[in-house]
Amino acid sequence: MELKIELTKNPKKKPDTDILGFGKYFSDHMFIMDYSEDKGWHDARIVPYDTISYEPAIMVFHYGQAIFEGLKAYKAKGEVVLFRPDENFKRLNNSCEALCIPKIDVQFAIDSLKKLVDIDRDWVPDSPGTSLYIRPFIIATEPHVGVHPSSNYQFIIITGPVGAYYKEGINPVKIYVEQKYVRAVKGGLGEAKASANYAASLKAQQEAAEKGYTQVLWLDGVERKYIEEVGTMNVFFVLGNEIVTPALNGSILPGITRKSCLELLRSWGLNVSERKISIQEIYEAHEKGQLKEAFGTGTAAVISPIGELCWNDKCITLSDGQIGEISHSLYDNLTGIQYTDVADPFGWVVKV
Ligand code: COI
Repeated sequence: MELKIELTKNPKKKPDTDILGFGKYFSDHMFIMDYSEDKGWHDARIVPYDTISYEPAIMVFHYGQAIFEGLKAYKAKGEVVLFRPDENFKRLNNSCEALCIPKIDVQFAIDSLKKLVDIDRDWVPDSPGTSLYIRPFIIATEPHVGVHPSSNYQFIIITGPVGAYYKEGINPVKIYVEQKYVRAVKGGLGEAKASANYAASLKAQQEAAEKGYTQVLWLDGVERKYIEEVGTMNVFFVLGNEIVTPALNGSILPGITRKSCLELLRSWGLNVSERKISIQEIYEAHEKGQLKEAFGTGTAAVISPIGELCWNDKCITLSDGQIGEISHSLYDNLTGIQYTDVADPFGWVVKV
């Protein structure tokens, strides 16, 4: 398919890197592609970043048929690189499947993204810990208020320079173990990157923030016993000499940072398992002195050590509130590969 390109005539002023935060600034261009039943995916274009107008009746506004992805481009020794973009677009297609959205061509999406990032390469910040966050998403655009899968869609990619997702940066975050609300159940949308899952998380997130916590730890929606994931991250625990993360069970998001950490840890010969873990087991391990550290993994959050867990008003401090050894090694190695400071034996990094 042809990719049309229209460059902006009014480039924006770029923000200083020390005020970036996360998700507030957007680059000069965006990618858009339309879907209709008669033409399939068509009219792929890169255009100046701008407002888009839609009829109030389009289906995404009413029934939330929307999915998204998150990945990053890094300034690496003067070059610009992406991290595992194929994984993101494959996962986008899995989300398409879950929400009755027609799939995209993965290779075309990667090529279009490379072009978009290339055009806005001056927007990729180069201070330590910064990157260009990339947000691909698909929304239902048929103007119709009957409940059924839309017959029209738009696939859009926007990008913007970011710093750390949490104000804590790589410092440990406080996590509240959620008892009242659930994020997803098996058979629902939990393993898709559906916008609906994030809507479902807001209330719990707001209440946890009011209590002074950065994020919530979700338990399974049926028994409220087994650990699933943390707000915007997957979660790992170091129990004695075992590094454990919840097995993907249909309601957990299959994180690409999660997968990369598992591959890194296994390549170091460590004892890694993906299995069911109950919150009770974590607290018992803590009592026995076996809970050495815990951390979250995600594109936006990178590796985020957990310094405190609070479950049923029982609050425990992990790794003395410091960054644990495994969290540290993973952070250094993963970001080392992403910024091309260390070798990439897996072939994860893709040059733009
Ligand atoms: C990401 O890590 O890219 C995510 O999608 C989390 C996001 C909701 C901030």
